[in-house]
Amino acid sequence: MDISMYKKLGRNDKCWCGSGRKYKACHEAFDDKVLRYSMEGHIIPDRDMIKTKEQLDGIRESSKINIAVLDYVAGKIKEGMATEEIDRMVYEETMRLGGIPAPLHFDGYPKSVCTSINDQVCHGIPSEDVILKKGDIVNVDVSTAYKGYFSDSSRMFCIGEVSDEAAKIVRVAKECMEKGIEQVKPWKFLGDMADAVHSHALANGCSVVRDIGGHGIGLEFHEEPFVSYVTRKGTEMLMVPGMVFTIEPMVNLGTCEIFIDDGNGWTAYTDDGKLSAQWEVTVAVTEDGCEILTY
Ligand code: MF3
Ligand code: CO
Repeated sequence: MDISMYKKLGRNDKCWCGSGRKYKACHEAFDDKVLRYSMEGHIIPDRDMIKTKEQLDGIRESSKINIAVLDYVAGKIKEGMATEEIDRMVYEETMRLGGIPAPLHFDGYPKSVCTSINDQVCHGIPSEDVILKKGDIVNVDVSTAYKGYFSDSSRMFCIGEVSDEAAKIVRVAKECMEKGIEQVKPWKFLGDMADAVHSHALANGCSVVRDIGGHGIGLEFHEEPFVSYVTRKGTEMLMVPGMVFTIEPMVNLGTCEIFIDDGNGWTAYTDDGKLSAQWEVTVAVTEDGCEILTY
């Protein structure tokens, strides 16, 4: 574990957090507390995972656009629409609001949004050839850059009437996300959050994808840490105020195993062809709990 960055400052030095205050009046006690956790063998966040007030303000502004774009899609999405049309809406509405769609050209990703239907787990690529039809469940995953700050959220949409199974996986995935959010508090662990997500999925006879997870976010689209939703209580990284990450468990009706589309190198599918659903929020750890930035 790299604790070198927690090297002590002089008590009268300016604090590392950029507040301009003296270290002893700012983050000294905080650092001592974090280091105690490290000494007990826990994984602790690097300082650059702890956002300043200015950075949180920026991420909050980005998040406002992010939700507005999803709200816009929510008002328009319907049976018979090509997923390419969702891509167009996300691109145009994001730009109109002064943002940039973060997925576009990210690692070579070709579109502005991910649209993942039925047994597609995530990273479905919008296309003129993919038409939403009655009974489909579709995840629309919007990620936004605004003035260098990033935000990320996704929702499920049911196209017309859907099967009981489809309605169930959409509901359970949403509940899993909510159970996770409830566990986001300073001085708890990412594993506490993951355990709540995973337990709820298992209790409903569903599984949670292990190979793809969430991520830190804010100054980049994908930052450390990797966020798993299948780890155990009391394990994984300590949560401290100022950390920002996504809660985005992918919940499957059958097996948790997935495969990636050979043709496009992006889209993940369930191995058994059964349904998958996902809801996503960006959260910040606060002094006494959590702020949901994209809801
Ligand atoms: N919320 C998704 C993620 O964090 C968005 C992926 S966009 C892509 O993985 F460009 F990476 F596909
Ligand atoms: Co994400």
